[in-house]
Amino acid sequence: MDELKLVRPAPVHMNSAEEFKREFYSCGEQVINGITLLDQMEYDKWLENVERNSSPKTIRKDWGVADTFFTVRKSDGRIIGTVDVIHNLDNEFLSKYGGHIGYAVRPSKRRKGYATQILKMAPQHAKSIGLSRVMLGCYSDNLASIKTEFYKKQRFEIASLTMRCKL
Ligand SMILES: CC(C)(COP(=O)(O)OP(=O)(O)OC[C@H]1O[C@@H](n2cnc3c(N)ncnc32)[C@H](O)[C@@H]1OP(=O)(O)O)[C@@H](O)C(=O)NCCC(=O)NCCS
Repeated sequence: MDELKLVRPAPVHMNSAEEFKREFYSCGEQVINGITLLDQMEYDKWLENVERNSSPKTIRKDWGVADTFFTVRKSDGRIIGTVDVIHNLDNEFLSKYGGHIGYAVRPSKRRKGYATQILKMAPQHAKSIGLSRVMLGCYSDNLASIKTEFYKKQRFEIASLTMRCKL
């Protein structure tokens, strides 16, 4: 496994970001975590959105200020994943479900330890912007995502668990 770094999205990443996005779709994944709405927008519009989300002056009222990154392989600059760090959880969705950190690893590069790296880098970034505690939301239908032992290893504690039963 190669080392990753956090890179702010820029116009130069357009082609590789589109290719990254297509990989999720071709694997049947329509939603890409950690990169709000890239899965729903053209790249240039999405870049503007990332920029707007990064400042308290321009963020929409119902969302938190976010720093969005590609996680890029240091050796060749390939986009391996995404992560965003939300500064404040001032709305119900974020505080109950979304959390501060959203992230994803591209399907072809999973099970190689990249999420483990991302979950070291994202809290470091959170600390650098003044947060002392972060929350991360997990989806119950995602086996990898709910592997609690893995999160415990990364120093996350399980804060809540919701069980559902179809009647
Ligand atoms: C969850 C996700 C980020 C894991 O990425 P990854 O790079 O494959 O993870 P890693 O290789 O670092 O492995 C992390 C741990 O999860 C386990 N794991 C990974 N995929 C798994 C799967 N499909 N089923 C069971 N366990 C799995 C690994 O064995 C490892 O545990 P270990 O350290 O005890 O061995 C990736 O599957 C993904 O992007 N999913 C879609 C988005 C998402 O769920 N994001 C997280 C919530 S915001």
